[in-house]
Amino acid sequence: MNLYLRILSYIKPYLPRLLLAALCTALAACGNLYVPWIIRDVIDQVFSERDSHLLNLIALGIVAIFFARGIFFYGQNYLMSYVGERVVIDIRGAVYRKMQQLSTSFYDKNKLGTIMSYVTNDVSALQSAMVQNTIDMITEGCILIGSVGAMIYLDWKLTLFTFCTFPVVLLLMDVFGKKIRVAGYNIQECTADITSVLQETLSSARIIKSFVREEYEINRFERENMANFEANMKNAKLMAILTPVIEFVAALGVTAIIWFGGRSVIHGEITPGSLVAFLVYAVNISNPIKRLTRVIGSIQKALAAAQRVFYILDLEDGIKDKPDAIVLPPVQGAVEFQHVGFAYNENEPVLQDVSFKVEPGQVVALVGPSGAGKSTIANLLPRFYDVTSGNITIDGHNIEDVSVSSLRTQVGIVPQETTLFNGSVYDNILYGRLEATKEEVEMAAKAANAHDFILELPQGYDTSLGDRGVNISGGQRQRISIARAILKDPRILILDEATSALDTESERVVQEALDRLMVGRTSFVIAHRLSTIQNAHKIIVLDKGQISEIGTHQELMAKHGLYAHLHDIQFKTAQLQRG
Ligand SMILES: Nc1ncnc2c1ncn2[C@@H]1O[C@H](COP(=O)(O)OP(=O)(O)O)[C@@H](O)[C@H]1O
Ligand SMILES: [Mg+2]
Repeated sequence: MNLYLRILSYIKPYLPRLLLAALCTALAACGNLYVPWIIRDVIDQVFSERDSHLLNLIALGIVAIFFARGIFFYGQNYLMSYVGERVVIDIRGAVYRKMQQLSTSFYDKNKLGTIMSYVTNDVSALQSAMVQNTIDMITEGCILIGSVGAMIYLDWKLTLFTFCTFPVVLLLMDVFGKKIRVAGYNIQECTADITSVLQETLSSARIIKSFVREEYEINRFERENMANFEANMKNAKLMAILTPVIEFVAALGVTAIIWFGGRSVIHGEITPGSLVAFLVYAVNISNPIKRLTRVIGSIQKALAAAQRVFYILDLEDGIKDKPDAIVLPPVQGAVEFQHVGFAYNENEPVLQDVSFKVEPGQVVALVGPSGAGKSTIANLLPRFYDVTSGNITIDGHNIEDVSVSSLRTQVGIVPQETTLFNGSVYDNILYGRLEATKEEVEMAAKAANAHDFILELPQGYDTSLGDRGVNISGGQRQRISIARAILKDPRILILDEATSALDTESERVVQEALDRLMVGRTSFVIAHRLSTIQNAHKIIVLDKGQISEIGTHQELMAKHGLYAHLHDIQFKTAQLQRG
């Protein structure tokens, strides 16, 4: 019931249109209702009294009724579709907005394909159910009520008799309805699973081919495909049983009418025309009952989809502005971690008691074995996640007390691999600051060592990148990513293994661009190759989520601790490679 109300709240803005649509639907249904009445008059008056004047009137009446019915039919379908489609785009928009707001941990926990399924499959299921079902429900509802009214008027005893079959039908509908709803939920889940496998495998075609796992993936897909088939068949089976069962019960009713009604005509209790009209109404109501059961089935399915959609809309996200959040004023870039503890999952601490202080403009290197928590520290600063204990401050402001957007606009990130969007090189750089001028974009590209290679691309700055565009090398991507960051001009910068995926030659060019980018900004550098961070003002050595050493290169080397050890390993490996 709550679900219904929730869907209704989306329909509310379009209520006038919906009511008009309902009126058209009801009037169109009345057209259907009038026909048996005419048949009665034809049999009882035109035929038995040979009244040709009445026959003319009736003929004209039928033409007029069907003409009007056509107009109402148009109104009903047009308006109902309008309302349905509007509601669906509203809901889809709301789901998408929610997804943009949800924090990174939502994306950690859910597969991309599943998330996509919410916006596509589930919203579509809602759409198809809403438009056709509402029309059917009103049409069939009107026909049902009108027919029953007419039947009672014609012969109430016979009507009572016919309706003895009703409780049976209602019971059946209830039992089947619940089962169909469960089946519908399963179908939506299976469809989401397929989309998920599809998304995952299509986006990693290269990996699959390099491991020759095509057969493996085909089997995996086949399994999901089969599960989907089974879920759909379960639903189909229920529907297939439901219809004949209901029809059989209805047929029993019709037989009873003919038998008892026939006796009444023989005894002269009702006219033959009335019995025929009664029969037509009775058959008329078997149709609405049958369709209504179908509608109930597909409404249950839509409710299952709605449940999934609202689940997303109701997700409470941890990373939100506090009600009294202030806008972080332009910062100098002093960063302090105070006894920071963090866990992605409860009871699995990733960082423990991390404390350090960085002066504005300093370069800090985060060093440590893989899995030590370097990227995690980088993730906490722009509040991709919130600390579990302790505080992080920027210029003395606790980052949880300021608005997320004012914080993030002042923190720039160059990750190991950057996503470039479908669009021109120019637009991809502009992403860093949408209101930047052409000169500023080119300046940024120059500072990022990207200008020259961009001019050599087929259409220069207008060359398309992304799925359908030209392929550029990893080093070139990184330089575009750096240009983006330069354009954003943040006070605080995070370079998370920005050069780790590059070969030595492009690393040199990218490193040069990074050095230029870091000037005057508080920079956190996570680097795989220790040689690149020797000049850092401060090197923080992490081990298993805790700080094991802090100092400059010279201080740490003199200490002969973990840093000196890591340094020696790299130095020796480098020598081996050279020798
Ligand atoms: N999104 C995540 N969800 C759960 N655990 C994570 C997530 N990201 C990283 N971890 C875990 O946190 C620990 C630290 O990871 P990370 O900060 O990425 O290490 P580093 O960057 O130093 O290699 C690792 O044990 C890793 O498995
Ligand atoms: Mg990392």
